[in-house]
Formats: sequence, C-alpha cells, structure tokens
Amino acid sequence: MKIAMIGTGYVGLVSGACFADLGNTVWCVDKDKEKIDMLNNNIVPIYEPGLNELVKKNFLFNRLKFTSDLNIAVKNSDIIFICVGTPLSKKNKSADLQYVFKAATEISKSINKFKIIVTKSTVPVGTGDKIEKIILGRKKKKLFEVLSNPEFLREGEAIRDFRFPDRVVIGSNNKKVTKKLETLYEPLIKKGAIFFSTNRKGAEMIKYASNAFLATKISYINEIGNLCEKTGVNVEDVSIGMGLDKRIGGRFLRVGPAYGGSCFPKDTKAITVTGDLYRTNLSIIKSVIKSNEKRKRILTERIKVILSNKVKGKKIAILGVTFKPNTDDMRQSSSLLMIPYLQKKGANIKYYDPSGEKNNFSKLKNVTFCKNINEACKNVDLIVIHTEWDEFKSIDFKRLSRGKKFKIYDMRNLYSSEKMKKLGISYYSIGR
Ligand code: UDX
Repeated sequence: MKIAMIGTGYVGLVSGACFADLGNTVWCVDKDKEKIDMLNNNIVPIYEPGLNELVKKNFLFNRLKFTSDLNIAVKNSDIIFICVGTPLSKKNKSADLQYVFKAATEISKSINKFKIIVTKSTVPVGTGDKIEKIILGRKKKKLFEVLSNPEFLREGEAIRDFRFPDRVVIGSNNKKVTKKLETLYEPLIKKGAIFFSTNRKGAEMIKYASNAFLATKISYINEIGNLCEKTGVNVEDVSIGMGLDKRIGGRFLRVGPAYGGSCFPKDTKAITVTGDLYRTNLSIIKSVIKSNEKRKRILTERIKVILSNKVKGKKIAILGVTFKPNTDDMRQSSSLLMIPYLQKKGANIKYYDPSGEKNNFSKLKNVTFCKNINEACKNVDLIVIHTEWDEFKSIDFKRLSRGKKFKIYDMRNLYSSEKMKKLGISYYSIGR
C-alpha cells in the first residue's frame, strides 16, 4: 500500500520504516527541512536500537522516502498517518493539538481523491471529530475518512513493539476502511497480534487509559516498595508473587526512581484535564501524578541520608541518567532533579551514560561526564545506579572496591544485597 507518515519523530519514523519493511511504499514528511536532509543522507536523528539499519535498507529499496513537501506525500498515498507531537500545553497541561490541526489543514488542501486519514499521535478523546470538521471545511465527506490507530511503542524497544504488538487498535465506524487497515496490518496479525476495532473515540480513550494504567501500576509498586522497606520485606518478591496472578501480570511492576519519559507524565496529566473538562474527577490518576513527582524528591533526598547528611565535598558517581535504557531521551528523567540537587549541596559529581554526554548538565559546576564506568567510579564515596543499562548489570565491584571504601545506591535493584554484604560494601537499594 501507499502510505504517508506526517511527522518523523519516534512514532512517525519508526512506524514508517516498519511499514516500509513490510513492503509498503512510505513517504515520511516533516516540515523540518534539516531533518529531512539528514534522513535523505542516511543520517537517522533518533537514538533507537535497530532504526539506522531499518531506515537505510528501506531507503535503498526505495520503499521509504523523505520529503518536507506534504502535498507530494498526500497525493501519492492512500493512507495518511498523523504522527506529529502532542506535547503538554503550557497553560492547563492538556495536550497541545496545534500540530495535529495544522497537519489536518495541510492534508485537506492536498486531497485529490479518497484518502484514509489516521491519527497515530496520542490525542484526547474527540480529537478525531475535530479533525473531521477541519477537513470538512474544505472537502466533501465522501473524499475522506478519519480513523484512530494509537501506537503502543516503548522507546528503546519501538521496532520490536511495532513488529510484535499485543494488539492493533483501530477506531472507526466505517467497516470498509477498517478492513483496509486490517489488510495493512495483516503481516503482524498473522504473527499473533490481535486486531481490535472499536469506534474512533474508543480507540482514542484506549491509548490514554492504557498509559495512565501503566503509570498507576508503576506508582503502585513504588509505594508498596516504600512500605516494604519499613517492614523488612523484599519488594522484588512481592512483584513476583503479585505478577503470577494473571489478573495482575508481572510487567511494569518493577520499583524504580519514578517513571519518566515523555509519554507517561504527559498522558497522565492530559487525561485528568479531559476528566475535569467533562466534570469527571480522575482522582486515582491525579494521585499517581503527585506520588510520582514526590518520589523523585524522596529518593533524591535519601542520598543525603546515605551520606550521613554530609553531601558537601563528597564524590558521587551516577551510572545512567536517561529515563530508561536504550534511549538518549532525558525527558522527565529523575536524574534531572537528582544531579542539580546534589550539585547545589556541594557534591562533586561524575556521571556516565552509554548514550553520551547530556547538555542538561553542561552548565553545572563540578558535574563531569565520564566515558566509562571505571572513570566515573574512580575514587568516589558513593556510586548511584540510576538507569538500568545492560552494561551496569555485571560490574566487578570486588575489583572496584579494592582498597577503596564506597557505598552503592542501586535505584534499579540490579544487585543482590546478600552478595554486597559478603563483599563488605554498604549497599542500598529500593523496597528491600
Ligand atoms: C510508554 C509506554 O510503555 C508505551 O506503550 C507508550 O506508547 C509510550 O509510553 P516509554 O515511556 O517509552 O513507553 O517507556 P516505558 O518502558 O513505558 O517506561 C516509562 C518509565 O517507566 C521509565 O522511566 C521506566 O524506568 C519506568 N518503569 C517502567 C518503571 O519504573 N518500572 C517498570 O516496571 C516499568
């Protein structure tokens, strides 16, 4: 099939490359000409494992094309996916839909024959109706159909999540057009993905409700972790014990320093604003937002306690600063609060992250980027494991601790407390 992806961010570029890899012809559109030039020169501006190769291969086979001319892409496509960003709006924390509506207006100018328009961006319930109105302002109803097809891609695992989704959700009342999308996703359905169709608002709601639930699940186990620490219970056992109940499920039940990224923080806030708009107080999600924000502070302040309230002059190594592994994304990462806090308290900080140095910290005095684990951990008082990158999972602390006294604060519970005790290292973790 011939497809256009409007927006070449995480969602548009990954989905576009994966659709091309399934044999479709895909036009990826972005108004950022510089980004399009980079992509046409085989430079992929997104850190996503496997994406470079996927883009290069499909670009070479001429299945994947990049342009900043939306008109060409729409005219040459039957299905147009809107994949532009929906950041939080400054004023009331709802989703800012200006880019979505701009794309809809541009698309309506280029419709020359029947087109299927699909929102893949995360949009509040009812946005599809607004997009339809925008296009109706210029085109007759019979020339287009607007559907919702939310994505469930995790950063760092996006290609895998596209290829092996638990479900493909389509929101439309038009059976014929829904069938067309089912055909497009056929290769994934054949490999086990469930195709679920509902109406357009239903699909829009599924996306927000799913992300808000996952954030709730994480905050839930984080708070149970707090209680486990007080009662001498190992939260890892609780996660496993709970997760074996198929009604609960073990995934997204791992304690951490607070969830980050662009989606959970943005989507939880946006759905509570939608709730307020419809005079329906989503009190549970509101408390999840508060709990998560508070957690960032609590766990950062815990470092002060671990250092017996003497942070000034202390040397601290931070391993991993991104919000999760296999991404260079720093959005809403708890390290953005933790590092400036410790720096202000007079600590000397060295950090290492496999995705490279971060501008977020470049202006901070006594905060230095190191190129590897050993350089970061040399002669420090405390090692903080903040992000669970694979290379942090088998550090030889025995060798590292030779002749040096340092503490470890493992915010991802990568190591065993017992083993650390045997090594004579004072080891702190979460919920244990
Ligand atoms: C999320 C959703 O998972 C995805 O379906 C949606 O399309 C986009 O938002 P993403 O934000 O990329 O994906 O990453 P995810 O793996 O969900 O992690 C989000 C945050 O939750 C990270 O900070 C991670 O460290 C944290 N997390 C995740 C936990 O603390 N515990 C867990 O068990 C899982």
